[in-house]
Amino acid sequence: MCRGLPVGGGQATLRGTTIGGRDCYVDRGGGVHLNQMASGDMKSSGDFASSIERVICHFPLVPLLFVRRIFGGASVMTNRHWFEEISKWKLEAADEDSQRYFYEVQGLQSIQSGETSYVIGRKGSGKTAVAEHIRGLRSFDTFVRSLSFKSFPFNELYKLSDSSFTSPSQYTTIWKHIIYSSICSMMVENQAIDPAISAEMARHFAMDIERGLARSISKISDRSGGVTLFGTGGSASSKTIVIPNDTAWQDRVNILEDVIISHLDSSKYYVLFDELDEDYKDVLEVDTSSQYFDLLIGLFKATHDVRRKLGRSLNVRPIIFLRQDIYELLRDNDKNKWRDAAMTLEWSEPQLRGLATFRLSRALDENGPEIGFPKLMGNLFTTDTTRAGGARAKRHVFHYIIARTLMRPRDIISYMRECAKLALDERTEKISPNMFSDVNKAYSSRLREEFVDEMQGAVPYINEIFEVLSRMRKQIFSFSEFKSGYDSLILSKQFNNALPFDTICNIMFHYSAIGSQPSQRSAKIFKYQYPNAKINFNENGVIHIGLLQSLQIN
Ligand SMILES: Nc1ncnc2c1ncn2[C@@H]1O[C@H](COP(=O)(O)OP(=O)(O)O)[C@@H](O)[C@H]1O
Ligand SMILES: [Mg+2]
Repeated sequence: MCRGLPVGGGQATLRGTTIGGRDCYVDRGGGVHLNQMASGDMKSSGDFASSIERVICHFPLVPLLFVRRIFGGASVMTNRHWFEEISKWKLEAADEDSQRYFYEVQGLQSIQSGETSYVIGRKGSGKTAVAEHIRGLRSFDTFVRSLSFKSFPFNELYKLSDSSFTSPSQYTTIWKHIIYSSICSMMVENQAIDPAISAEMARHFAMDIERGLARSISKISDRSGGVTLFGTGGSASSKTIVIPNDTAWQDRVNILEDVIISHLDSSKYYVLFDELDEDYKDVLEVDTSSQYFDLLIGLFKATHDVRRKLGRSLNVRPIIFLRQDIYELLRDNDKNKWRDAAMTLEWSEPQLRGLATFRLSRALDENGPEIGFPKLMGNLFTTDTTRAGGARAKRHVFHYIIARTLMRPRDIISYMRECAKLALDERTEKISPNMFSDVNKAYSSRLREEFVDEMQGAVPYINEIFEVLSRMRKQIFSFSEFKSGYDSLILSKQFNNALPFDTICNIMFHYSAIGSQPSQRSAKIFKYQYPNAKINFNENGVIHIGLLQSLQIN
């Protein structure tokens, strides 16, 4: 029951009543005051609202208008708290709180249902975010193994190739073995599986495939010891099957497949392969690229086979997440067959707006509702339009940001993060467009690092090439000028095996660091917007606008 407390002279602290983690008191005139708190103390506006309710209960006469004033007054505090949260956003989904920030991408349902097995996307398009989201689905009847190939010694796998097959197929059997072993290891955890079966499986498959993939692979591929498993028919204890040491890979896989088909329940089993591209650079350097590609093709084939055999009758869902440029390099007669189960992660401006709206709302309140886009923009920015570099027409601030991106969530996050950091540094309540030039600087150097990261494998001296562009001092340039700068660079540095100029331009065009500028049109042609576009050396080249500040071109 609510009951008003007597308020004496001076100030009275409401014992046990706090607003947003702060003690509050009521002055003689009935005004409610909050004691000072460190920014970020307020857990959520939900807490805040319920505390306000408690105050109203204690002080039924505190006018509602006044409570509104507290909300208004708190907005400075909330904005700071909000900026602090945004400034901590991560550019890698693996480092983030997926439960809080994951925004449902188009096609997610088909990935979850097992219709899609291949998720293809550019770097930063959200592959790991989807993988992390699926990891978060774990429950009593949903099991997930996420196999990351970050710093994975690929040589371990190369060694295992089954030389009785032709190139990619020699790895297919190994991959199927890994997928089936992962499923067996999940069955061990599943309470719904006959304990006699899972106990027996535990003897061979209770291993930490996720954290110790290399070790697990040597364990599951260890042919020195035989494996004893329950048979596929009759009572579990009466029929055991033994896989002797010298059983061929294919036979081992067939036996595991039979065991799984016989004993698997209707739970969902996901086996995720992410970060397969982590070692792509190294692979180019040590020139084992074809082996690496054979390995990947083998994985695609294995996934296709497993889907075909187990995906329909059972909920076995292997999913590969792969960078688009690498996927495009895979050559195999079966590639057409994979298309039906493949999905490309692509983002349009409205979808990125949806993502920004969702994430900004979640940054404000972890469990709160989604707030309208205009309202969020109004709270973040002093004005919702800005002039873009000398252009007469004004554009929406979000559109201005989008123009600096490669239409990937990572860019939006990076830009907003820099905005929040600057607002915190400058102690401003909102971001004004005249702060954009500083934001652009920080954002641009991050984008340049990312380009360098992507291209360095193919072009180790890519940073020096950016310096050549920087010295040209203009966004739109002629290829002949760029070529003479490039030629002098090669001459002065005497690089071994320097690549031909055309190849360099093609690589830079491929990653959208540069585009073409057709003379008769104002539109610029970048690969990220026109995936089928080819570079045209007869036109001018154009540097991506997001890169300009990092090249000291303004
Ligand atoms: N659907 C999404 N919802 C929320 N954030 C996302 C989503 N997709 C990507 N992001 C964010 O974008 C950034 C890059 O995504 P990430 O999954 O790491 O890219 P990729 O693995 O494709 O290189 C991360 O900060 C991630 O949290
Ligand atoms: Mg990733």
